[in-house]
Amino acid sequence: MLFNRTALTATRAFSTSARRETKVAVLGAGGGIGQPLSLLLKSDPLVSSLSLYDIRGAPGVAADVSHVDTASEVKGYAADQLDQALEGVKVVVIPAGVPRKPGMTRDDLFNTNASIVRDLAASVARVAPEAHILVISNPVNSTVPIVAETLKKAGVFDPRRVFGVTTLDVVRSARFVGEVTGKDPKETAITVVGGHSGPTIVPLLSQNKNAQGVKGEVYGKVVHRIQYGGDEVVKAKDGAGSATLSMAYAGAKFTNSLLRGLNGEKGVVTPTFVRSPLYEDQGIDFFSSNVELGPEGVQKIHPIGEITAEEQKLLEACLPELKKNIEKGKAFVNKA
Ligand code: NAI
Repeated sequence: MLFNRTALTATRAFSTSARRETKVAVLGAGGGIGQPLSLLLKSDPLVSSLSLYDIRGAPGVAADVSHVDTASEVKGYAADQLDQALEGVKVVVIPAGVPRKPGMTRDDLFNTNASIVRDLAASVARVAPEAHILVISNPVNSTVPIVAETLKKAGVFDPRRVFGVTTLDVVRSARFVGEVTGKDPKETAITVVGGHSGPTIVPLLSQNKNAQGVKGEVYGKVVHRIQYGGDEVVKAKDGAGSATLSMAYAGAKFTNSLLRGLNGEKGVVTPTFVRSPLYEDQGIDFFSSNVELGPEGVQKIHPIGEITAEEQKLLEACLPELKKNIEKGKAFVNKA
């Protein structure tokens, strides 16, 4: 099941007036990810209102999605209506920007997407400074620091409220490890740490009892598939973009986890790329690890825990690349 309803049951125990209203905005709602993500969020009972914005096509997507028979309100906003779209929102999900074409890395998207994400974050800082921001736009390792630096400049950065969505790596890991072990992916949940691009994606198979037995060549292949799974989709789409449907699923899943945490549900833990103290001493101040989500957003950042020598090697390959990506994002906002 994509959505967990525990928090809904809990909120129903209060009077209707005490029930939390959760307005969620999708910026980039007309795109390949934005459209199915908007549909999935419309079916999430924890979303009370959905605000769909894009520089093109959002009102049409909103009219379509609004006919789905769930209680939430849906409104679409045109290119010049970003401020209206952001009014009163609690959670902003950003899949705006260009996707990869065959042969491109996520970093190749930097030049276009960096300014899109910076400008959207500046508007969120002005109109909805307390909103939680979920960044899907790539390269996530750089766009999340861009959002953080932009909010800092505006004086409203709260590290508990900015998230890079790395859930697709978690979803792929469970699926791919499920395939090689013959287990249901539900039983092969893998913690993925680091960042969100090739060598910065570090899956910790040793921490799941069903995945511990994956060794040798099979281990090498499955880790490579998790790190480069996005390329399979880019290649198969042959110039028409990157993962959209599985990403929308992953984005809706992470949004649901955050909403459950915000609603007071205990024990909601999932990997996400956040401002993190774990490798700060090495100059890496954003990192993905298991994070407990609570009423204010990030509640507790878990350490990565015990890892094998092979995983340590993966981590060593991740850190310098991640550091470069983070610095590039920060420099982009702080130049001039
Ligand atoms: P797409 O091109 O289909 O859609 C992007 C949408 O953003 C378009 O509708 C476009 O009009 C809109 N847009 C562009 N500039 C905008 C602005 N300033 N304000 C609002 N909307 C704007 O691309 P797709 O496939 O939906 O991918 C979106 C992003 O998500 C890409 O950067 C892609 O690399 C990234 N992505 C991230 C993943 C992750 O795991 N975090 C996985 C897959 C893709």
